[in-house]
Amino acid sequence: MDFDLTQDQREIQALTRDFARAEIEPNASAWDRDHHFPRELFGKLAEIGLMGACVPEEYGGAGVDFLSYILVLEELSRADAGVGVTVAVHTSAATLPILTHGTDEQKARFVPPLARGEHLGAFALTEADAGSDAGALRTKAEPHDSGWTITGAKQWITNGRHAGTFLLFARTDQQTAGARGVSAFLLDAEHVRVTRDEEKLGLNSSVTNDIVIEAAEVGRDRLLHEENRGFRVAMATLDGGRIGIAAQALGIAQAGYDVARAYATERRAFGHRIADFQAIQHKLADMSMEIDAARLLVYRAAWLKQEGRKHTEEGAKAKLFASEMARRQTAEAIQILGGYGYTKEFPVERYYRDAKITEIYEGTSEIQRLVIARSILGLTERALVAR
Ligand code: CAA
Repeated sequence: MDFDLTQDQREIQALTRDFARAEIEPNASAWDRDHHFPRELFGKLAEIGLMGACVPEEYGGAGVDFLSYILVLEELSRADAGVGVTVAVHTSAATLPILTHGTDEQKARFVPPLARGEHLGAFALTEADAGSDAGALRTKAEPHDSGWTITGAKQWITNGRHAGTFLLFARTDQQTAGARGVSAFLLDAEHVRVTRDEEKLGLNSSVTNDIVIEAAEVGRDRLLHEENRGFRVAMATLDGGRIGIAAQALGIAQAGYDVARAYATERRAFGHRIADFQAIQHKLADMSMEIDAARLLVYRAAWLKQEGRKHTEEGAKAKLFASEMARRQTAEAIQILGGYGYTKEFPVERYYRDAKITEIYEGTSEIQRLVIARSILGLTERALVAR
């Protein structure tokens, strides 16, 4: 086993860290306060190759491996988790599935503008009555001679207002309920109307939208993968996407630890630095241990994916542990800072708010446990896991 990052991985980690310290971190609290989506930032990230880090160079990306991309998400999220999710959804959930499931024509047409950051990507699966039970989606794609007419509504779409390309899931077989009979489509912004900007607990520098698709006409060239087999595209996409969200949680937790550790070595009480008290030492020790454990799970899952090996269970474990750890440990960071931690003077309250969503999106913790249980027990039938 080799636990060292390669030279290339260390370089992209350092590049992202330096960029994040200079361009993101100093603005993160203002973006959070003002609910500002920093559209211009993504152009700058594209200039240094980070809007398509793990996309091959022939499609406009930087051509680094998947673990390097995960390091990018960790470092971006350490500075601002809203920026982290924007890049994660754009890359893992919109760009990579086109590379994996697209025809040559679709790859050549849709991927380069995404990888070069000219367009943002969005992933439109969730609906008002189809969240954890994604297979219950009702958006319809009705066939005609040259393609489909798509009608429906999607909810909580990250990047929705700013996206140029949507990977959208719709039911093509109206006779079949559940996950079968769903297809994946590539839509443009003009096919979609944004109907709501969600106001959230955190991640205020990212956008989350409701969208409607009103009888959008799409040709056959917009179908990604096979007709009625789109749910597999969604699930395989989420297998990789969950590793990205785990990296986001890891970055948030690391940021909380950094602030708490620095504070503990400066803040004095009862004539000592608070880091000299065992109560605080134990908190920092636990934070450091849990962050390490999460990092190992996240990097292992990323490595399995880049090796082309199965990573459904490992990705779910990484996301489950990293997200619950981030929520727990950002709360501990607030506790170490005491009253200051509860104020806007320090960023730890933002980390706590941002961490919470990582237990919910790209599959709740309950769904991650279901995915893990299904894998370790060898359960594949929906009826068996639903009991
Ligand atoms: N890879 C490939 N195919 C898979 C798969 C995987 N990991 N898991 C399941 N499938 C296939 C199955 O083989 C089956 O295929 P066939 O119909 O051809 O046999 C099909 O998908 C349906 O599988 P299930 O019967 O197991 O489906 P289910 O209805 O029981 O659902 C579930 C399973 C795990 C609960 C799933 O619905 C799920 O993951 N729910 C959570 C949804 C989710 O994560 N949403 C996130 C939204 S995106 C987001 O949050 C982005 C953001 O903003 C950050």
